[in-house]
Amino acid sequence: MNVALVYNVKQNPSDLPSLSEEGDEPPRRLSSDGRGAVHSIAAPSIAALDAEAEWDTMDTILAVKRALAERHDVALIEANEDAYDCLRALQPEIVFNMSEGMNGVSRESQIPAMLDFLRIPYTGSDPVTLGICLDKGLAKEVLAYHGIPTPRFSLVRSEAGLDHSAVPLPAIVKPVHEGSSKGIANSSVVRAAVELRSKVVQLLEEYHEPALVEEFLPGREFTVALLGNEADVRVLPIVEINFSSLPEGVEPIYSFEAKWVWDHADSPIDIFICPARIPEALKESIERICLRAYHALRCRDWCRIDVRLDDRGEPNIMELNPLPGVLPNPEEHSCFPMAAFAAGMTYNEMINSVLDTASRRCGLTAGRT
Ligand SMILES: Nc1ncnc2c1ncn2[C@@H]1O[C@H](COP(=O)(O)OP(=O)(O)OP(=O)(O)O)[C@@H](O)[C@H]1O
Ligand SMILES: [Mg+2]
Repeated sequence: MNVALVYNVKQNPSDLPSLSEEGDEPPRRLSSDGRGAVHSIAAPSIAALDAEAEWDTMDTILAVKRALAERHDVALIEANEDAYDCLRALQPEIVFNMSEGMNGVSRESQIPAMLDFLRIPYTGSDPVTLGICLDKGLAKEVLAYHGIPTPRFSLVRSEAGLDHSAVPLPAIVKPVHEGSSKGIANSSVVRAAVELRSKVVQLLEEYHEPALVEEFLPGREFTVALLGNEADVRVLPIVEINFSSLPEGVEPIYSFEAKWVWDHADSPIDIFICPARIPEALKESIERICLRAYHALRCRDWCRIDVRLDDRGEPNIMELNPLPGVLPNPEEHSCFPMAAFAAGMTYNEMINSVLDTASRRCGLTAGRT
């Protein structure tokens, strides 16, 4: 088939987030007297650092291209202002969509909306699902409607709005429509009213979007990759986030620092366990809740869903990622590929199975025979 791969590429890929005054050494543990420093991002600087966090590096884009090129003719199209004209001129049979888009909460929906307009089939969810999942508050409202457990929350649009927030502490405060842990730092877990207020004010100022104040779930955390459609959705081996691998003294969350600063290819930390070592009953209940969430949000082809256990050990859905990251190098710790590897797939097989799933859904022939 003629496939177009549509992407957004990081413009400054080598710009690692600058660390605290300690410089850019590998992470250190707090010494027992508490004087050793743990690198973390200075609270006021995070929005400046994470602007491109959702976009892909050229290495990732070329790895996806190589995978698709095993069986198809592949053209690359950058999701910029020329994308519509390029797609219209090229008329690919199908698009492999990995575009994170730009500008606001519609950003992930922009390319799929253009493709619907041009009647070009594409991989992954439609603009409605992508837009709702990017707005974590709306996604949680859909989950709640379907009776799918998700932590209690309130959406705060101004400092005064905080007075009406009924979420108990401890809570976590996040920008309502970001991904890749943008705006989620160690300091996002708040245990006192004064911390809550200062975090909300900081996010409102830096991200210019409402703050989601969410009940903090204290239990184990998992992320779950799903592949398929309707009755034929496969849940890949579950990934557990291993918080004991984080520097001592930090919050047990998969923060921006944990994702992009403390864990990097030169000095990886052992943050994931896949397949998660959990009892069969818990595995089944995680799989069940993820399938329910996948269908409730009308996900298509693939998705990665974040789950955490509440204080009773029950799985809750934190959020859905219908446009999962697919970093090819296993040392870069990208969860969807990690789950696929644990299921016995290669990277190229994983990418092609997303394309095949979409092709079947759209009634196209998958692959060259
Ligand atoms: N309600 C919660 N209770 C406990 N921890 C939470 C909660 N919400 C988020 N976290 C922690 O913060 C991390 C990031 O949150 P979340 O998944 O919402 O952000 P994201 O930026 O959309 O992530 P992704 O990189 O998956 O797109 C989670 O992986 C988890 O460790
Ligand atoms: Mg997440």
